[in-house]
This record gives sequence, structure tokens and C-alpha cells, in this order.
Amino acid sequence: MEITLRDKKNAIRAYEERKKKSLSLIENVRNLKPLLKRMRGRFASSIVNRPTLQKWAGSVRSEQGVLRKYDRMAGDYVAGYHDMYKDEGYAQVCIFDGELDYRKISEMNDRRIREIAGLLKELGISKESSLLEVGAGELTTIVPLAKEIPFSRLSALELSWSRLAVGKLFANEQGITLEDTIAASALDLPFPDNSYDYIYTSHCLEQIGKGAERAIQEMHRVARKYIVLLEPGLEFASAYQKKANKRAGRVGEIDRIIRRLGYNLVRHGLFPFALNPGNKTVLYVIKKDSPESNPIRCVCPCDKAPLELYEQIYFCKKCGVVFPIVKGIPFLRKEDGLLATKFDQLN
Ligand SMILES: C[S@@+](CC[C@H](N)C(=O)[O-])C[C@H]1O[C@@H](n2cnc3c(N)ncnc32)[C@H](O)[C@@H]1O
Repeated sequence: MEITLRDKKNAIRAYEERKKKSLSLIENVRNLKPLLKRMRGRFASSIVNRPTLQKWAGSVRSEQGVLRKYDRMAGDYVAGYHDMYKDEGYAQVCIFDGELDYRKISEMNDRRIREIAGLLKELGISKESSLLEVGAGELTTIVPLAKEIPFSRLSALELSWSRLAVGKLFANEQGITLEDTIAASALDLPFPDNSYDYIYTSHCLEQIGKGAERAIQEMHRVARKYIVLLEPGLEFASAYQKKANKRAGRVGEIDRIIRRLGYNLVRHGLFPFALNPGNKTVLYVIKKDSPESNPIRCVCPCDKAPLELYEQIYFCKKCGVVFPIVKGIPFLRKEDGLLATKFDQLN
């Protein structure tokens, strides 16, 4: 597939025009905003007993809502990945090497993955290291990344079981084995303190909205060396991106959160590759360097006590709760636990 200079100019011009149109639409809607906000508030207070509707009306991202949305779309990313690399592939306006460009998406993705790999190598990842992706979707980032880096243990945590199940098939097909695939929440990581050497996210915190601070605290608790966040950041965003993120209830002040928590932010800047130029990626690297190191294992998301494994069940003796394991993927959200205090005695 040959991309001519003319193709490139036309695609970028069309992109800029679309952006301008949508900005002017936002401007027009802005005048109506106070009225819409009042109407939404009234609606929210009239449905006090319907938390889901209330959350929607108050435009707060609920974890359950995000889970439902992503679980239903399981398979889309893997299909998209295959489309990207099929035959000649296709081109799209994207951020390539820090510039707005029109490129084959497979080329952009290869460079994006190599850039993440290069960064992890710079941060010292080695064949003794463990790496965890939080919010790993269908593993379409961690699997190609695994082909470019040394590691000893590779793990993925994701809210949606179905996405992980699809991702495991994708990993097999690509010849990559992940030691752990865990359906759990970034807000309650089911791992011990100081256990994973490296933890990263790629556009996961953006989905968490107001819970992002808690997710960062959890990653900081579990990480030993570095946390790498690849997320949209409003500090570098265009007016368009700022408005779109705010409207969608996405998080946008990750640098401020990190500083407020007193963590060591050693790198912060625009990441040079992004599929969607309207949602640029920002890189945040937090250094932890804990002298302590605990073995990686699953712990209870509620009280962090070690879990006991019984065939297809994890049991937390401390709170008497069982968590199911389906097709090798444990369900380890707090909400997934079922009370069965005598489970160990009756087994
Ligand atoms: C935009 S996708 C990115 C997926 C993946 N990181 C990638 O690079 O392809 C965001 C993912 O974050 C997951 N997610 C959202 N909130 C989460 C949470 N609280 N805990 C764990 N995963 C979450 C979603 O289910 C979704 O799969």
C-alpha cells in the first residue's frame, strides 16, 4: 500500500475540518449547558432509588457500567488487530513520531509497541523481571510487547472476563504465554505489596474517571520498581480533547494526582504515538524502587489476605469468601466473592 503526499495532505485536511466542525458544535452547545446541567440534576434527584440511572444522570463513570460496555465488546480489539495487519492494512490520521500524520495503522502500532519496549528496557527490564498490565483488554498491547522485551513473568489484569478469555486465545495464537490473567479491578488489586517489578497501563485510567487516584495508589502499593502510565492527560490536551474528556467523565489530571500522592514522577511528557489524534497519549513514569520484594500470588481483593486454591475456587479464610475461577481466569473483584465461611472445612 503506497501512501502519496497527496493522500496524506487530503486525509489531514479532512481530519482538521472534522475537528473544526465538532469544536463549533461544542461552542454552540456551551450556551445551553447551564440549563442542561440543571435539568440533569433534577432528573438525578427524582430517581433516588435507582443508583444506576442516578450515576448515568450525574455522568459519573461506574465500574459496573464500564464492565458491561467492555465485556459486550469482547473480540473487537482482536478483530481490529487482525484487520490492521491483514493484506495491505489501512491508513489513518494518527500521531506518528510526535506529529499529526497519515500512516498505515500497522506501522504506527509497531512503532508504538517498540517505543514502549524501548522505554521498559531503559528502565532496566530484564529476563528476571515481572511485568503486569492493568486494564489489559484483549491483550493486544501486552502480547506484541512481550515479543520485544525480556521478562520472567507476564501478567494481565482486566475488569472483563470475556475480554481476557478472547485475549488468551490471541496470546496462544501469537505464541506468547501469560502466567496470570485475572479478572479484577484496578481499584483493588489482588496482589501483595511490592510484588511486581513493573506495572503499566495503556488507556485504562481514562476509563476509571474519579477512581484513578485509588488505582494509582494500588499500583504503587503492588509495584517494586516502576509504574508506567500511558494515558490521556489534559495538561497536554487540545481544547477539543479537554472538552471531549470532560464530557465523557474521563480522568484528566494524572500528573497532579501523582504529585499530590507524593510519588516520584521521573518522566512526564507527550508519548509520540497515538491511534486517535483527538485522544493523545501522555507518558508518566513513577519510580518506586522498593527494597522489599514479596512473591507474586493472588490475595483477597477485600483484605489482601493470601488466597487458598481449591481446584476452580479461590478461598479467603480471613473473610470466608470464595471466588470462582473459570477457564483458568479467576474472578477477583470484591463483588465476585460469595460468602461460604465453612468452605475449607467441607471440602
Ligand atoms: C481503552 S481499553 C485499553 C485496553 C488495553 N490496555 C490496550 O492497550 O489495548 C481500557 C480497558 O480498561 C479496562 N478497565 C476499565 N476500568 C477498569 C478497572 N477499574 N479495572 C481494570 N480494568 C479496567 C476496560 O475493561 C478496558 O478493557
